[in-house]
Amino acid sequence: MRDSSKPDSSAVEGIAAIVLAAGKSTRMRSKLPKPLHLLCGLPITNHVVRSCRSAGVNRVVVVVGHEAETVQAGLGTEVEYAFQSEPRGTGHAVLAARSQFLNWSGTILVLAGDIPLMPPTTLRRLLDAQRASVSGVAMLTAHLDDATGYGRIIRDEQGSIVGIIEQSDATPEQHSIKEWNPSIYAFQSELLWSALAEIRPQNAQGEYYLTDVIAVLKSRGITIESVAADCAEDVLGINNRVELSTAAGILRKRIQKEHMLAGVSIVDPSTTYIDSDVSIGQDTSIEPCSFLGSGTVIGEDCVIGPMARITRSVVGDKTRIWASHVTDSQIGDRVSVGPYANLRVGTVLAEKVKIGDFVETKKAIFGTGAQASHLSYIGDASVGAGTNIGAGTVTCNFDGFMKHDTTIGQNAFVGSHSTLVAPVVIGDGAIVAAGSVITNNVSADALAIARSRMTLKEGRAALYRADKSAAAAARAAASEGVVEPKRVE
Ligand code: UD1
Ligand code: CA
Repeated sequence: MRDSSKPDSSAVEGIAAIVLAAGKSTRMRSKLPKPLHLLCGLPITNHVVRSCRSAGVNRVVVVVGHEAETVQAGLGTEVEYAFQSEPRGTGHAVLAARSQFLNWSGTILVLAGDIPLMPPTTLRRLLDAQRASVSGVAMLTAHLDDATGYGRIIRDEQGSIVGIIEQSDATPEQHSIKEWNPSIYAFQSELLWSALAEIRPQNAQGEYYLTDVIAVLKSRGITIESVAADCAEDVLGINNRVELSTAAGILRKRIQKEHMLAGVSIVDPSTTYIDSDVSIGQDTSIEPCSFLGSGTVIGEDCVIGPMARITRSVVGDKTRIWASHVTDSQIGDRVSVGPYANLRVGTVLAEKVKIGDFVETKKAIFGTGAQASHLSYIGDASVGAGTNIGAGTVTCNFDGFMKHDTTIGQNAFVGSHSTLVAPVVIGDGAIVAAGSVITNNVSADALAIARSRMTLKEGRAALYRADKSAAAAARAAASEGVVEPKRVE
């Protein structure tokens, strides 16, 4: 056992975490395994892993089992994995990681993978308590007036923890215990493995309970240190979708608070949804009913919303995005987008670009100051600096089989309601007359008119009206038995 009289200043190097994520998650009633359900844009279990990393844990082993391949693909490669062949309980799940710790002795933090709101500072307190303890075991506890569903902490008359009793095994008297087990423990590793070897599935669920390790250790005379969670919110376990939405509400508020304290205005937090991993610059204002998805970076002095949805995109400084969708795009400084624009994957806007209402872009690169102000589809296209795209312009990028590019030079002018049939190139300074269907390249500084020539018939409109009125009068007269007048030619 470790000599606790010599605090180990390099202990952070020797801390591993085992995160349990192999259960069937029946209560989610979902085809998607619970660890992968998104909480503010990140899988539930990734929040747990992150918290461990921030607390100084440098080795994380996630135990997977149910839908293991899917879970591994969803959680990524930054952790190690252990495989639990059958979901025979939380103790059995920890044992599945045993072979990965054969030549390893240090502290092992064990956490359920469904407790995503645990702050790293609390994990740090738990690890510090474990390190400072003589026994080498510390667990987190929490209090709730109604702890229904959770394992309850059993203490003796001296107040020492003697065990944990699960809801389904507890007596009515034990059900009234308000101190409960959030399922986060720190063990000196040999203690964990030796105690796990002794647990048996003798309980209502016929499972190997990790919680039984506590009673095993206590029976050996080992003191179980406890650290209280700051609040019940921090240790909320997600077992069903009601708890998932509760956790999302709590996390959203925390994320918003961090941004506001860092100098971002959020006009109406109750209708604003900012995921994890979003960065927002100082003095940017997020207006009501806006959604900022994970991976989004927004610069300073921007106005975002009302009603903007931005995902995995980068936005420069002093840009305005109003009532629009922006996905997988890059937007420069002083750009104006919307209202009602849809910027899809691969849109790149240089500074001072204007994309107005009902404009859809996809794989579209706009140079500095280029504009598409109304009602256009610009896809697989590049638009040079200073070029103006008139209302209703459409790049016909798809021939039914393949996508083709449209290249428009600098300072060009594409008249309203033009149809640009790709592949096509429009040169610098060229003008496309309104209503043109452009099927061939337009050279620089050329004027392309691709529509039928207008015909003007002087006075013909007046004649037309006279003709129609006379016919109407004749029909009226005929119905009264009057002779029909001659037609006006
Ligand atoms: C567990 C604790 C309970 C505690 C609660 C806190 C046990 C026996 N009970 O109960 O005392 O109050 O967490 O949230 O530990 N898992 C596996 N393999 C299995 C079973 C579960 O990997 O065979 C994983 C699950 O995927 C989950 C975690 O362990 O991430 C906890 O399992 P869950 O069934 O949710 O346990 P609870 O009933 O919540
Ligand atoms: Ca749980």
